[in-house]
Amino acid sequence: MAEDFVTVAWTPSGSVRLIDQTRLPTEEVYIECRTIEEVADAIRTMRVRGAPAIGVTAAMGLALGAQTIQAENFKEFFAALEAMGSLLMRTRPTAVNLAWGVRRLLNLARKSRDLPLPEIKAALVAEARAMQEEDIRINRAMGQHGQSLLPDPARVLTHCNAGGLATAGYGTAVGVIRAATEAGKRIMVWVDETRPLLQGARLTAWELQRAGIPATLITDNMAGHFMARGQVDVVVVGADRIARNGDVANKIGTYSVALLARAHGIPFYVAAPISTLDLSLTDGSQIPIEERAPDEVTHVGGRRVAPAGIRVANPAFDVTPASFVDAIITERGVARAPYDVSLPRLAGEA
Ligand code: MRU
Repeated sequence: MAEDFVTVAWTPSGSVRLIDQTRLPTEEVYIECRTIEEVADAIRTMRVRGAPAIGVTAAMGLALGAQTIQAENFKEFFAALEAMGSLLMRTRPTAVNLAWGVRRLLNLARKSRDLPLPEIKAALVAEARAMQEEDIRINRAMGQHGQSLLPDPARVLTHCNAGGLATAGYGTAVGVIRAATEAGKRIMVWVDETRPLLQGARLTAWELQRAGIPATLITDNMAGHFMARGQVDVVVVGADRIARNGDVANKIGTYSVALLARAHGIPFYVAAPISTLDLSLTDGSQIPIEERAPDEVTHVGGRRVAPAGIRVANPAFDVTPASFVDAIITERGVARAPYDVSLPRLAGEA
């Protein structure tokens, strides 16, 4: 096992079990979703979050929903399944892994159309469960490719949480850090707290501490200070969607970190599975950016920190132009510019 918690799992009684990420780090509580609506709600409210994790969770949610469909024939079954898929896809728009997970199950159902409906339902559960195991394997492979880019010793800055909690296990950016540590490299991690929802402070700091990897928590506005002092060797972050030209959507604030890294001559790497590529988009301007509720900005930990009535903007992600990305680490190898050549090649398109 990659770590001592389970981000998402299918239970023997046929429900979806999630560690409630809104309660971390102070409480380690697991919730059980018994309906597709409960799964959709858990994704929307970010009890589960992180691109690969919501991809696997959405697939399990759809498999869960499929069990409840009462249909006379495949056509009726598939129409109901597609409607459920749309419900899940509407929960969070930026991470393409979510739509990818849903589409993978819809494609499997389509291919299995000649089987009896109970067999199709069972196949959907098996596929969603396989996706969970596959995601951990993918992250380990990504870790191997990525860790070779890290010097020894290395002080690595990361933003948001791209760890075991953001995936089915092991992590993408944190997976690279984990793999470097497992290879014996002396790694120290600068953890950006990641306002507004503090995924760095609440989740990455928690994970790294449990993994015994030395980590130092900083507020987002401290990154430049430590870079200027020569105390950051490399930046590694995850991604929610990568366009064909290599533009990367990731947690809000990533773009600023990339600019700072470039200004200080520090390599900026993105670790993401092939399922995070959206080769149908020519560049990052086409990536939908989720806007979340104002109270995430006006409140910290449920406490108001801004005057009532103030206007608020709360984009959950930003786009880092490909020109600031030194490499994209995937499970199939490391892509470098020009990304519109290297990414389709890795994806098996070219
Ligand atoms: O809003 P979140 O917490 O779902 O955003 C997560 C991120 O931006 C991660 O960096 C990204 O999903 C990669 S996770 C391996």
